[in-house]
Amino acid sequence: MNVSNIQAQHFMQCWGAQANYKPVEVSHTMGCYIYTTDGRKIFDLRSAHECINLGFNHPTVIEAMKRQMDSVIYVTDDFATAPTAMLAQKLAQLAPGNPNKKVWFGQSGAAAIEAAIKAARMYQYIRTFKEGKIADAPNQYPYPYKIIARYKSWHGSTSGAASAGGDPRRWFQEPFTVPGVVFAPEANAYRAPENDPLWSADYLEYIIEQEGGSNKVAAVLLEPVVGSNGIIPPPPGYMQRVREICDRWGLLLIADETMSGMGRTGKFFAIEHFDVVPDIIVMGKALGVYCPLSACIMSEEVSRVFDDNIFGHGQSFSGHALGCAAALESIRVLQEDGVMENCVAMGQYLGNALKQLGSQYTQVGDVRGMGLFWTMELVHDRESKTPLRKTTEKYTPTVVSDIARYLLEEENIYVPADKFGIWVVPPLIVTQEEVDMLIGAIGRALAKFVK
Ligand SMILES: Cc1ncc(COP(=O)(O)O)c(C=O)c1O
Repeated sequence: MNVSNIQAQHFMQCWGAQANYKPVEVSHTMGCYIYTTDGRKIFDLRSAHECINLGFNHPTVIEAMKRQMDSVIYVTDDFATAPTAMLAQKLAQLAPGNPNKKVWFGQSGAAAIEAAIKAARMYQYIRTFKEGKIADAPNQYPYPYKIIARYKSWHGSTSGAASAGGDPRRWFQEPFTVPGVVFAPEANAYRAPENDPLWSADYLEYIIEQEGGSNKVAAVLLEPVVGSNGIIPPPPGYMQRVREICDRWGLLLIADETMSGMGRTGKFFAIEHFDVVPDIIVMGKALGVYCPLSACIMSEEVSRVFDDNIFGHGQSFSGHALGCAAALESIRVLQEDGVMENCVAMGQYLGNALKQLGSQYTQVGDVRGMGLFWTMELVHDRESKTPLRKTTEKYTPTVVSDIARYLLEEENIYVPADKFGIWVVPPLIVTQEEVDMLIGAIGRALAKFVK
């Protein structure tokens, strides 16, 4: 039986033309590695779409899942199970701010983003019409409904989430994007004017005012550290400015931690680096470890609007006990078994090595990251900063896809082929020896493909 051929014939690959789909057949996975049936051992430098922060097959997580499978895997939310209750409580406590929060569970980041958008709009509707808190315009305006998202962001592929994605994947939704989203610029120190690193926060405020301020805008939605659009930590002071702007205009701040959460940046939530308390946090990917699980964590103030109003959102399998048991054990491992410490220490070591390596090539424009979340952005030259892979070239073969192919075929290292540069996102259990191996391979790739 040729599994690869059968899969290619009957399985629809995400975001790809199917004719050239040739999946590599896997025999098993362990730690940072994918073992193939033809005897290869491949380092997963994208952590399985950033889902396996603990590496593959973590023994105590598998043990917790097996134990949970013997009691209850899933019941509807008319019933309570220990893992579902404990995980909701744990996330409410771990997320910054007052722990009296509420959590909705889904199975994808996109579904949790949809929950966050609905919650933000409902909150503003109640505030406007039931509490009469209109700030500065006549009340014949509709309630605040607009979501300000940013370019160079991604929040998932369902209609609402994709419509808020500042990424070429939104274009597949057009012209049927869901109305009510306005885009602000991303915050990228590498591309900001030297004397004005916070220009994009000023522009965000300008957009809020021009879009109707408190009377029309419900929330700002952002990734605290941008993920798939280039691993972009914000310039110092940016997140605090955004929080202050949201407070001044009465807007909610939604932090999408689907990729940056679960310890990826060296803290449990990336937003903790900035000492900012968002109103809603969205999680997904690594949360459920080996189970599809996502969460929309709402502050007490936001969740309270649903005490007497219907939370109009839902999914089968919400609060899946097996996924919640895996997540709880994963959080324990992250916090108690030294994985977060390893992420910080290896992150520093990896970041320094990447910067040192990048400095030898004029086409490595920027080396940036936090924790074990790093990228090397490739540019035409340092002066112009023209990207070697433009936004419009996500689906075009570029030097980035050449490097990805080389790393997979010659170095047995798996990285995505469609980013703005080299994606360096190992599982958080990576060792120093493995980092050295990765740096050696990336160095050989740079020597071969860039100047
Ligand atoms: C920041 C962010 N939010 C949301 C999503 C959507 O998650 P999912 O693919 O589970 O719907 C993604 C997926 O890449 C993401 O990176």
